[in-house]
Amino acid sequence: MTHKPLVLSGMQPTNTLHLGNYLGALKNWVKLQNEMPCLFCVVDMHAITTDAGYGKPEELAQATREVTAAYIAGGVDAHRTPIFNQGQVPEHGELAWVLNCVARLGWMDRMTQFKEKSGKHKERASVGLYTYPVLMAADILVYKATHVPVGEDQKQHLELARDIAQKFNNDFGVPDFFPQPEPVITGTATRVMSLRDGTKKMSKSDESDLSRINLTDDADSIVGKIRRAKTDPNPLPDSKEGLAGRPEAENLLNIYAALADQERDAVIAQFAGQQFSGFKHALADLTVAKLEPMAKEMRRLLADPGEIDRILKSGARKARDIATPVMDEVKKRVGFIA
Ligand code: TRP
Repeated sequence: MTHKPLVLSGMQPTNTLHLGNYLGALKNWVKLQNEMPCLFCVVDMHAITTDAGYGKPEELAQATREVTAAYIAGGVDAHRTPIFNQGQVPEHGELAWVLNCVARLGWMDRMTQFKEKSGKHKERASVGLYTYPVLMAADILVYKATHVPVGEDQKQHLELARDIAQKFNNDFGVPDFFPQPEPVITGTATRVMSLRDGTKKMSKSDESDLSRINLTDDADSIVGKIRRAKTDPNPLPDSKEGLAGRPEAENLLNIYAALADQERDAVIAQFAGQQFSGFKHALADLTVAKLEPMAKEMRRLLADPGEIDRILKSGARKARDIATPVMDEVKKRVGFIA
């Protein structure tokens, strides 16, 4: 049996979103929306697995609204594509429990992100952080989603979701009940690196705000951050081979190409042999031109939180229409009396 194509993805509402979230994820979601039905959630239940979101109710709610505003300002059409927060769709948690019983400890112990996030003091990490990948599997499988746009760092979690889906199907004698969700690697997704260190991913957890461009930054701070971005002393190369060992040059050229919707080779040709100062000017202009309308739209949306909450509620209703029959079937298969 083939499953109907359906895309699901989500971002955590922790801190503000940055250029890496836009070019690496959101921009591609917006494209996918024209190719297949999509669901985009704000994963507030994942956000409480660590101190970033745990015990901070106001901040969490505000961050959830900000991510929602970013989805919309970035181009997700809430009329076509449900946007909702995970905490408002109880089926995520319900399925996660069942899947916790499907997943094996041995599988979970292999999850590298848990090891990174829990650090030296694993015994102090929340149980939620440990079982985070199972909740992520539930996010996907509760809709029988077939396609999941994720970054490199989430591939292992998606593989776990596939293993869990398969084991459920086998153990309960329902071949093809859950699909095997596929990662979506869009050719245009850009891995945006830190402006201070071209070998590190641009990240919301980097202490230095100069390392990233936030989607809500105003024009002055965008220009300032690009002007101060780390570079090397050489002029820009005239071929992609010339980028070897020059991660900062590569990162800035990648950002330019992604924002301009151009091939990187074309951008390299355009700036070949030029000094960074001139290129940075052009990059700053382009970044401001692309991000400013988005930031403005985010501010407009955030000025009316009631409207954002209504969008989330309506998205959650549509999401539940898909999730409820799947969850009913799961309960029946497992043997829960309805
Ligand atoms: N774990 C993902 C991240 O940190 C977020 C996420 C949660 C997600 N549930 C998901 C992504 C389901 C895709 C599908 O990036």
